[in-house]
Amino acid sequence: DSNRFQAIISHCKEYGFIFPSSEIYDGLQAVYDYGQWGAELKKNIRDQWWKSMTQMHDNIVGIDAAIFMHPTTWKASGHVDGFNDPMIDNKDSKKRYRVDHLIETHADAMRAQGKAAEADVLISEMEKLDAAGDLLGLKKLIDDYNIKCPISGTANWTDVRQFNLMFSTEFGSTVSENADENKVYLRPETAQGIFVNFLNVQKTGRMKIPFGIAQVGKAFRNEIVARQFIFRMREFEQMEMQFFVRPGTQQEWYEYWKEERLKWHLSFGNPASDYRFHDHTKLAFYADAACDIEYNFPMGFKELEGIHSRTNYDLTQHEKYSKKKLQYFDNEINPETGKPYGNYVPYVIETSIGLDRMFLSVICAAYDEEDLSTDGKQDSRVVLRFPAKLAPIKLAVFPLLKKDGLPEIARDIMAKYRGEFKCFYEEKDAIGKRYRRMDAIGVPFCVTIDHQTKEDNTVTIRYRDSMQQERIAIDQIGEIVGKAIK
Ligand code: GAP
Repeated sequence: DSNRFQAIISHCKEYGFIFPSSEIYDGLQAVYDYGQWGAELKKNIRDQWWKSMTQMHDNIVGIDAAIFMHPTTWKASGHVDGFNDPMIDNKDSKKRYRVDHLIETHADAMRAQGKAAEADVLISEMEKLDAAGDLLGLKKLIDDYNIKCPISGTANWTDVRQFNLMFSTEFGSTVSENADENKVYLRPETAQGIFVNFLNVQKTGRMKIPFGIAQVGKAFRNEIVARQFIFRMREFEQMEMQFFVRPGTQQEWYEYWKEERLKWHLSFGNPASDYRFHDHTKLAFYADAACDIEYNFPMGFKELEGIHSRTNYDLTQHEKYSKKKLQYFDNEINPETGKPYGNYVPYVIETSIGLDRMFLSVICAAYDEEDLSTDGKQDSRVVLRFPAKLAPIKLAVFPLLKKDGLPEIARDIMAKYRGEFKCFYEEKDAIGKRYRRMDAIGVPFCVTIDHQTKEDNTVTIRYRDSMQQERIAIDQIGEIVGKAIK
């Protein structure tokens, strides 16, 4: 629900996870900065993904390609001509809308008024027109349903136009007659950096099919309706993996990656009922299967990750435009012919997830407002129940008092464990207050050093989720935390 979502957004800002970009200048739409704890959490998610791909699979390697690519890349990939969204402007508010979002919002309002069946008709009409690229038809649909601008409240629309989502800039400083000559794009997906390096990696890594290439990096899209916090951003990070397979085996590998990716999501401990597959019925012309893994965000089930069987489309396109062969020689014997499979352009299964969107799912799953009221006494806390392996800070170390040698012992504990995991030292405020602050940033373990520590080398450990406390030896800290983050 939207209250919960708003609370999460405020919490992210108040506790140093996410700030609006350049906030002192009132921010930049759909661009966000990760703060001190957000950057740690994001890095932990990225590391988990990278490990699951390149460490847990012998046949997957990772690369780090540049954001800028030769402009022809985007001709070949289809992005120059086809990466468009139909959009429309309201003449009164001067606001621009993505047509599908405008219509979806209207359909949601219809559903809220109990007109679900009519809303379904509207959406299916829109999908048909959208697939056909019928801009006049889309405009007529907006007129027929008398869809109004949420800002101005009027239906005073321009025509529907196509709007390319790629950002471009100029390369070098030469002034050219033809402005397009120096034009380069900020990549709208990381995948193309993998396709163009397919043979480099295959040859130098002596990779044998089936094998994968993974990559994490920034991508940029000039999203028209940028909304819902970090769900849809103009600058974001993708974690993509292209898995190259023998033609004819794509269906089984598609099924394999569907299961494998769902397993990865479930490994973070959220209920399985918060995830579902959405199989695409409307496929891109080059795809032979595609689905999304959707997560139950506060605003409902939405796409978190895409898994696509892209055939040999991308590599074939790059062969055509670069005039270079992008083929693999398969020396395995084909049992049907008794001869090697030979040369072919591999088929590709792609898994593609937004790191920021994954971050949003992690923080939404973790966020909990817990009522701690007891007879006659009102109390509550906000706690982020991150899986320990994702938590930005693993261990907080508190001296009970700022004197009697307690801070020194606390500093020694910091020194002992900071090489193993992220620790945090705090000596200000009452212990109860310090615990609550650590709950709010999701620290799974806090240890407190008191006078007894000086006598028997024990500390009080306090567990975030249960709020239980127990006395343990200083030497046990590493084992307890280490086990939890494994
Ligand atoms: N190479 C395939 C590809 O880019 P996509 O469905 O356009 O496919 C894949 O994007 C994933 O990237 C999405 O599932 C989503 O998690 C993330 N993503 C896409 N656009 C985004 C945006 N504007 N902001 C944040 N994440 C985005």
